[in-house]
Amino acid sequence: MAKQEDQFKKVVSHAKEYGFVFQSSEIYDGLGAVYDYAQNGVELKKNIREYWWKAMVQLNENIVGIDSAIFMHPTVWKASGHVDAFNDPLIDNKDSKKRYRADVLIEDYVAKLDAKIEKEVKKAAKRFGDSFNKNEFITTNARVISYKEKGEAILKRMGKSLENEDLADVKALIEELEIVCPVSGSKNWTDVKQFNLMFGTKLGASADSAMDLYLRPETAQGIFVNFLNVQKTGRMKIPFGIAQTGKAFRNEIVARQFIFRMREFEQMEMQFFVRPGTQKEWYEKWKETRLKWHLSLGMGEENYRFHNHDKLAHYADAAADIEFKFPFGFKELEGIHSRTDFDLSSHEKFSGKKIKYFDTELNEHYTPYVVETSIGLDRMFLAVFSNALQEETLENGTTRTVLKLPSVLAPVKAAILPLVKKDGLPEIAKNIVSNLKWEFNVAYDEKDAVGRRYRRQDAVGTPFCITVDHDTLKDNTVTIRYRDSMEQKRVKIEELQSVIKKEISHKKWLMRM
Ligand code: GAP
Repeated sequence: MAKQEDQFKKVVSHAKEYGFVFQSSEIYDGLGAVYDYAQNGVELKKNIREYWWKAMVQLNENIVGIDSAIFMHPTVWKASGHVDAFNDPLIDNKDSKKRYRADVLIEDYVAKLDAKIEKEVKKAAKRFGDSFNKNEFITTNARVISYKEKGEAILKRMGKSLENEDLADVKALIEELEIVCPVSGSKNWTDVKQFNLMFGTKLGASADSAMDLYLRPETAQGIFVNFLNVQKTGRMKIPFGIAQTGKAFRNEIVARQFIFRMREFEQMEMQFFVRPGTQKEWYEKWKETRLKWHLSLGMGEENYRFHNHDKLAHYADAAADIEFKFPFGFKELEGIHSRTDFDLSSHEKFSGKKIKYFDTELNEHYTPYVVETSIGLDRMFLAVFSNALQEETLENGTTRTVLKLPSVLAPVKAAILPLVKKDGLPEIAKNIVSNLKWEFNVAYDEKDAVGRRYRRQDAVGTPFCITVDHDTLKDNTVTIRYRDSMEQKRVKIEELQSVIKKEISHKKWLMRM
């Protein structure tokens, strides 16, 4: 646990020190769970967004993008169910006066059971060596089975209680499990209450006429209310999707873990409209497709797993998370939800406008069903960043801190370094920058010894360092150093563009899907 915490602390401090993420309004001591993206962070974030957009919109003929406003008519949130049901169950500890999400306390308890299972697996793997069969072990070992069954039973009971609004039972479960406050260590809990997560604001000049608005808590509703507009103007035929990326806001009770849970964050969502009755098939298809997208980035198959929901949101008939192994354990990275026809039907009811699709093949009107994929851009940033940050011990005994970002996502693709600041080398290097900057985000650095400059670029995840040396004057070649292997090769200056492009192209990376 301590090791995990140390690793996470390193992630947070590296993000600040190397210009990726700053606390918002830091000179005023910051604002809880609100963050700013710095010069390198903004590039990484943009590259993740583009990687998603390419895969979801550009490569799918039947998916188009939109960019809807953050402010929406207040009835949207009544229709979507957010006014009545977008709540978190909260509980206070009377001794520490700290507030918690009751469901998170229970989930953390279950995560501890999972950790115990992992410990048993590791112990057994050590004991049995090569003959160890993990699958057989976890399905037959009595202790593992009992941890697993206990965890499942707890989550099932919690899901049911939350669904039935039985908050007294949620509290009873916390008491039965003897969950203590992580700060005071006491079991002195208040009752569980519901807390709406939407931020309210006002539109209009005078207090009397002002209209109460909400900052959108999800981007999805901007897609639903534009369903007919897009379908008609784009002459879209079902099945088809509408995608968008943009800010969302939630008044999170427990906002911690850096950019994992923020009050202002960005989502990348896609609503896929399908024939009623086919939603299950599409749900499975999108689960698989989205996992492949993640795996295409090469961050380790073992770092992902599906978590199927017992506790369903008010709009869903099936839902699963793609969980990622963050430095603090497996947590939700993306959600895939089968949202039925809940949203479109509800907007039809509340707006009084007919929202139906005419299926020419079936010769009938119907309300399409929706399968949604929804991922937090900031959470994806944290997944990529924390997975990439590594400390390596080199052959000569020294260590290097390296950010092994997938090159397609790296903020700076190449750094151009003159070996010395004289003999015409800076001029050649600057000339290379002038040519490459049309294609890629590149940096020029002439300060300090070249070894230190390599380390600086390693720390921000630059996949290629191009060094101009005295041989360049003779044969027009430079060295290209690969961040991960630290291997160096000589290449002709005129080949640089194609060498880099081949490595970082969306096609190369997304073709792995
Ligand atoms: N439209 C469906 C929806 O919003 P969600 O599971 O509430 O579903 C989807 O959110 C994704 O948005 C999550 O998987 C997560 O990646 C991201 N997300 C949600 N709340 C967040 C927060 N407070 N901070 C950062 N990301 C968040």
